[in-house]
Amino acid sequence: MIVVDGGRPLVGTVRASGAKNAALPAVMASLLTTDPVVIENAPRLLDMDTALTLARTLGKEVGQEGGTVRLCGGDELAQVAPDALVQRMRASFLALGPLLARTGEVWMPLPGGCAIGPRPVDLHLRGLACLGAEIAVDGGVVHAKARQLRGSTVYLDYPSVGATEQVLLAGALAEGETVVVNPAREPEVVDLTRLLSAMGADVVWHMDRVVIRGRLELGGATHRLIPDRIEAGTYLLAGAITRGTVTVTGVRPDHLDALLAKISQAGVEVAVEEAAVRVAASARPHAVNVQTGPYPGFPTDLQPPVVAFLCLAEGQATVTETVFESRFGQVEALVRMGARVRVSGNTAITEGVSGLHGAAVQATDIRAGAAVVLAALAAHGRTEIRGGSHLARGYEDFVGKLRGLGATVWEASEP
Ligand code: UD1
Repeated sequence: MIVVDGGRPLVGTVRASGAKNAALPAVMASLLTTDPVVIENAPRLLDMDTALTLARTLGKEVGQEGGTVRLCGGDELAQVAPDALVQRMRASFLALGPLLARTGEVWMPLPGGCAIGPRPVDLHLRGLACLGAEIAVDGGVVHAKARQLRGSTVYLDYPSVGATEQVLLAGALAEGETVVVNPAREPEVVDLTRLLSAMGADVVWHMDRVVIRGRLELGGATHRLIPDRIEAGTYLLAGAITRGTVTVTGVRPDHLDALLAKISQAGVEVAVEEAAVRVAASARPHAVNVQTGPYPGFPTDLQPPVVAFLCLAEGQATVTETVFESRFGQVEALVRMGARVRVSGNTAITEGVSGLHGAAVQATDIRAGAAVVLAALAAHGRTEIRGGSHLARGYEDFVGKLRGLGATVWEASEP
């Protein structure tokens, strides 16, 4: 459980960690080779532990020293992925493409992960089928077979981050050229292609497609992960919601364009430097409407925290979620804390209130949990957040970093 005594502006500087959503596919990329893949700027969080445990279980040697992770070996990779790890984290499913390319036959359970609506893997499977895999799903397990994957054109109905990564990972060891039409272009996907290039694949991004020319063997690489734009955005919103002054360093400001545009429209002062962003909010911000979308649209992972922010803004705002079907897990907790927010279809409608109060609430997933902590930091009194362990999945030292900004927050055991 996380406990917050709120009502005080956050002030100070915090450094962004390496991006979780870039780190997890990078671990899966290491399955493509037996040479060392060294990942620098790796965030220390539970999802990363799950990814490394999965890699180890599948046959890799894993070493970790501070923020550097080294994966090597794995001449003989396992062909069956353990159900528990795939259930714990959806990104584990990205091992399917690499394992298939390396071993020719894989049994991979259908994934679990955050409770944010149905998240099928049809695009992943259709993509691999285009590369020549024979795929059957039976009893919740995907059985995939391919003697040699062959490059092909994969059209994605939707620019899914995971499906794009799955096809690129498999395409890196496929014969010939793989073209993903309508790919996801999130910075984390681009980061994965930087790693795959360093490992020996040829990758070229175009306006509407990404082309990868695979190799029959890939080598190792040393790869520095991009900063976590979602973590950075969370701290910027923490500064804004508490009417404080927060600087996040070690960021790529251009990855935060959508968020920065919205909060400055709302009246928050934003200053951008080369690798840092500072927000300062003294007056009450005003309502702005937000719609999530694939990059460079407003990131769905910052939708729950931005709803929390808008609950304290002047006026009515609508926040429309277009990426996931049901992702308003934060709303019930916000209402308990005095917010006036309701959900209609895929839209949350906030009527800003002048203050929130502490309450006993529940975190339902990583980002909804972050949203509730932000609201608690701004609220008067004490908030007890059960399910705080969700936060450790996606944020490195969340409580410690918030304390560094002057927050009164601590972890306690759940009653
Ligand atoms: C990744 C991120 C997650 C982020 C999301 C959207 C990681 C580890 N996670 O998740 O934090 O919120 O991108 O930016 O990088 N879909 C299908 N069929 C598929 C695949 C996806 O219908 O085969 C749908 C999903 O249900 C969802 C939408 O596409 O509605 C977006 O999903 P996707 O982009 O694939 O997200 P993830 O890769 O799961």
